[in-house]
Amino acid sequence: MKLRTKITLLTTAIAVSVVFFTLLSVRGTIINAFRGELEKRAFSIAGNLSDRIANHVLLKDYFQTTRAVNEVLAQENDLEYIYVTNEEGAMAAHTFNDGVPSGILSWNPLADRTMGVQLLDTEKGHIRDVGVKIFNGTKSELHLGIREDDLKQTLSTMRTITFPLIIAVTLLGVVASFVFSRLITGPLDKFVEFTKVLGRGEFGSRVDVPYDGETGYLARSFNRLSMELKTVRDKMEEAYTYTHLLQAEKLSTIGQISAGLAHELKNPLTTLKMLFQAFREQPDMTKEDAEIIGREIEKIDGIITKFSGFVKEKEFHVSEINLNAMMDRVISLAAFDIRNHGIEVHMDNIETLPSIKGDRPLLEHVFLNLVLNAVQATPGGGDIRISGKKDDRSVEVIIKDRGTGISPDIRSKVFEPFFTTKENGTGLGLSIAYNIVKSHGGSMFFHSNKGDGTVFTVRLPRGE
Ligand SMILES: Nc1ncnc2c1ncn2[C@@H]1O[C@H](COP(=O)(O)OP(=O)(O)OP(=O)(O)O)[C@@H](O)[C@H]1O
Ligand SMILES: [Mg+2]
Repeated sequence: MKLRTKITLLTTAIAVSVVFFTLLSVRGTIINAFRGELEKRAFSIAGNLSDRIANHVLLKDYFQTTRAVNEVLAQENDLEYIYVTNEEGAMAAHTFNDGVPSGILSWNPLADRTMGVQLLDTEKGHIRDVGVKIFNGTKSELHLGIREDDLKQTLSTMRTITFPLIIAVTLLGVVASFVFSRLITGPLDKFVEFTKVLGRGEFGSRVDVPYDGETGYLARSFNRLSMELKTVRDKMEEAYTYTHLLQAEKLSTIGQISAGLAHELKNPLTTLKMLFQAFREQPDMTKEDAEIIGREIEKIDGIITKFSGFVKEKEFHVSEINLNAMMDRVISLAAFDIRNHGIEVHMDNIETLPSIKGDRPLLEHVFLNLVLNAVQATPGGGDIRISGKKDDRSVEVIIKDRGTGISPDIRSKVFEPFFTTKENGTGLGLSIAYNIVKSHGGSMFFHSNKGDGTVFTVRLPRGE
């Protein structure tokens, strides 16, 4: 059963019961009040008549007594009878035309009382027998029987109005409770509808209920919940998109590098092929040939090691990164080269940088490459300064060496895959680093003057 129906039925039932019990109690009150009044009137009539006939009874003038009682009976239309007993307690006068009912003297005997009332249940309905003593201390009494005609009339009127009244109240109750239940169930229906909306995943929508009272409080909570669900889902979707973007970036980087890789591997492999062809024709190998073979194989090995290091990480694992801890680890990984080159590393403000989100091994790879490049560019020993900077949107890690610098003619090439000026370099370091930084939504750039060292800056977005 719907809540609205329940409320309507309940309120109607309450209204009808209230009306019913009110009518019942009104009826009781009316009956009591009426009977009280009736008795008072009966006693008053009896008292007056008793005074009037006292002399006749004393003189045993029952003719006059009978006349007087008949007169009174004729005046009062709800009197059923009047009778008078003499000093011996025998019937002296009465108004019964069809004979005195048997046993009437025992219906309401006064005995020693001066007055008394007795309810008689007769064929003509309830009759009150009211008796008064005419002379105290004698058996002479006056009795009259009074009918409840008016009460009967009133009660029957009440009965006729009760039924329509109950119908009217029921109808009124139904209408009122319907309106009343709408006031309650209206917002409830909206809440139920709203849970379905949320169930369909339409987060961020709002329930349209006025912001007052308990339902208003509930509406505010519902709307807040809906907004929070939306925020959480947006964040999850953002993170998902971001991870996928990173993945796409990475795949394109791998594609670029693979093309270069094939190209680069071709040169040493061609050299090796030629040497082996010559070796087949003339099987004695000079020391020079062996050295060339060794060098070319080393080159191939270097390229493959570096490349596989990059592709090994199949997926991006985004986590919270504390840059200070990361730089400490990078320095410890490069510690051997740093010591060998007689270099001192200084850190400035790195600890003030807020943590960022990114792939730890990849970013570590970036900074390690930059630190190693700086070390390799400072053969005679000296300082390397690593400092941190931040603004509202990004953080920067700046690696500054006082080494050889990068000459203007090769500045545009250093980020190209396989561009190197080093004998054992692969030229993949900066290009891979550049792509990693880019795939984190950051940027990487440098300033360099020949002979005056180089400053590499990695800028990464902060926040989510
Ligand atoms: N800090 C630096 N100072 C001077 N030159 C630099 C610096 N960093 C990079 N370079 C120049 O850029 C070139 C490319 O650097 P990259 O890191 O890509 O390759 P590599 O260092 O030569 O080789 P690998 O990284 O494989 O050891 C280097 O060979 C070097 O000429
Ligand atoms: Mg390098």
